[in-house]
Amino acid sequence: MPTLKKIVLASGNAGKIREIAELFSELEIEIAAQGDLGIESPEETGKTFVENALLKARYAADMSGLPAVADDSGISVDALGGLPGVRSARYAGENASDDENLDLLLREMADVPDDDRGAGFHCAAVIAFPGDEVDPVVAEGVWRGRILHQRVGDGGFGYDPIFLDEAAGKTGAQMSREEKNAVSHRGKAFAELKRKLGERIVSAER
Ligand code: IMP
Repeated sequence: MPTLKKIVLASGNAGKIREIAELFSELEIEIAAQGDLGIESPEETGKTFVENALLKARYAADMSGLPAVADDSGISVDALGGLPGVRSARYAGENASDDENLDLLLREMADVPDDDRGAGFHCAAVIAFPGDEVDPVVAEGVWRGRILHQRVGDGGFGYDPIFLDEAAGKTGAQMSREEKNAVSHRGKAFAELKRKLGERIVSAER
């Protein structure tokens, strides 16, 4: 197990970098954003969230020579056979905005009855190491809910305003950051990643 004194966050998204840095803040690890090291994001050509997260983390690890953390996420809608899935950020086109993607999903779901509007946010969170000697640590999280017929709430981002958490009785856009982190796909995946990383470090020290 390589030492974890400094890691790279393999994302170009400032919001995501802040969130992930926050999740790792208690671990006393120095964190650098890939952009600050002159590393760009590779194309996301994977068919699964795990494949895409690994692709991003491996690239940043090999370019920087440091362990790298990445995530990949999206929403899979039951009535659409799992779409938009890994294409969530590009659902309405390569450079589509969050609003355009959300509007397309509402249109595709217009005739779907309430009982069939189940969906899940998925997140894969990984840490990869430079070279091929050390296996990456991989974790996943799912947040189940239902797609509404229109937007409710004005917080969050992406598909949050139309995603209802039935237990909370709120959409993602009505939740505080803490509330959402406690139940969300990303919160679960990173909690699991930290747990697995802790196990690796302990077994390497034995
Ligand atoms: P990524 O940056 O490649 O992981 O793409 C994630 C895409 O999935 C984003 O553009 C959002 O549209 C959607 N998404 C992922 N997580 C969330 C979330 O927590 N709320 C709302 N939309 C999300």
